[in-house]
Amino acid sequence: MSLTTAPSLSKEELKRQRRELNDANIAKKKAAKEARKKALRAPKPTTKKTRRIQQEDLPSARTLVKIFVCVVSLFITFLVYTSIKCNKLVPVNVFAFGMFFFLYILPNDRCAILRTSRFKYLRQLYKTFSIFLFLFNLSQVPLTPVIDDLDEVPGARTLIGEILSTGPDTYQKKSSNVSQIASLLGLVSELLDGASSVVDIGAGKALYTRAIYEMGKRRIPTIALDNRKGGKDDEFYDPPSSSDSESCCCYTRVVCDVKQVSDETLGLLGEEAVAVTKHLCGGATDSILMSIGSYPLRNCVKRLCVAGCCHQKTKRDEYCNMEFLNKHSLCFTHVGVRGGVQDNDFRTLQMLISISKNNATLFDFEYAKKPLVKLVGFETARNWGRVARRVLEEGRMEFLRERGWNCELRRYVDEAVTGDNLVIVGRRKSKIE
Ligand SMILES: C[S@@+](CC[C@H](N)C(=O)[O-])C[C@H]1O[C@@H](n2cnc3c(N)ncnc32)[C@H](O)[C@@H]1O
Repeated sequence: MSLTTAPSLSKEELKRQRRELNDANIAKKKAAKEARKKALRAPKPTTKKTRRIQQEDLPSARTLVKIFVCVVSLFITFLVYTSIKCNKLVPVNVFAFGMFFFLYILPNDRCAILRTSRFKYLRQLYKTFSIFLFLFNLSQVPLTPVIDDLDEVPGARTLIGEILSTGPDTYQKKSSNVSQIASLLGLVSELLDGASSVVDIGAGKALYTRAIYEMGKRRIPTIALDNRKGGKDDEFYDPPSSSDSESCCCYTRVVCDVKQVSDETLGLLGEEAVAVTKHLCGGATDSILMSIGSYPLRNCVKRLCVAGCCHQKTKRDEYCNMEFLNKHSLCFTHVGVRGGVQDNDFRTLQMLISISKNNATLFDFEYAKKPLVKLVGFETARNWGRVARRVLEEGRMEFLRERGWNCELRRYVDEAVTGDNLVIVGRRKSKIE
């Protein structure tokens, strides 16, 4: 077998072949580019959303209606603006206030463009109008009137004084606490007629529980329920168990979580129990309302007197009626700048309540730089804080009403004694409609 070698190409021939290859490559790239351009120009299959955007590009009837509503809302803007008494009428506020109405009528979360924008100014703009929108929505929540019930039970202070003098030395003796108990005793006494028992949920040191027990002349079975065990450094005002046999059989301390009440405790409660609570901070009140509204406690508790406190500590996932807030266009979750889920409204709500509980001396230190305070001023923010607290209480009452309760909100002590001066008083309807 003979080996043959390929004839060597001349320099000219090699150059020609390379040129041809180059031209072919350029032509191929050009053709691909043309094809891409053609594909981009071709009509895409339309989804519902793209159809809507295409339609909105044209001045459709819907867009015209929106523009009309926008003009009308700008007029309303000024009316509402004066009603919430903003202290600074700078053009940017007025503009932002007008913008929120415009966004109000747009569907979906279109504010996300502003909220998550790279530009600080746009984010600030969003913050401004979201604050106005929040305050506007807050002002629209229908609130049931609060009934003033500030009278103390005659002789209540003497009774509480006697318990304090024989019990441990604690902060319970504070005059503001004594005033609150003296007034709450009047509300509880209205519920005692025919009651099978009284249960103080989250009784703590139980000065209030003991006062109820003594007010009922030790005849109404009284239960101090708390998840605290107590001990040497955590003494209670419970009646001494050895001295008086009468007090032992009628007064019981139960150590458990309200969500895990035993059959034995349910037996103590009977079928017409009165549930009372005092100073249960934030979400603890909601947790108790949820327990009262569900099995097994709902079969026993038929009356209640719930005095909450520290509403600003309530967490979003603890509050018993987020549906109520959402129904009134408040507290929806949305995506934040870093992509996390957040609820700016609820944060504003908590901050307003905090402000309403603080005095002006804290203003410079803690709140002066907050956008909300800069916009509406400290005093106005305090007033909105009181509204926010009322709205949370309204949601709690709505929660109970939906579960067959008649309730009303009472103011049991003056604001000067404590800002946490509201109490829900309720009775279960005999038949749930
Ligand atoms: C701030 S203290 C109030 C005590 C008392 N009512 C008063 O006015 O002084 C709240 C009490 O509620 C109790 N507590 C909170 N959540 C509870 C729950 N889920 N079950 C039982 N007790 C609870 C706590 O252990 C605490 O003793």
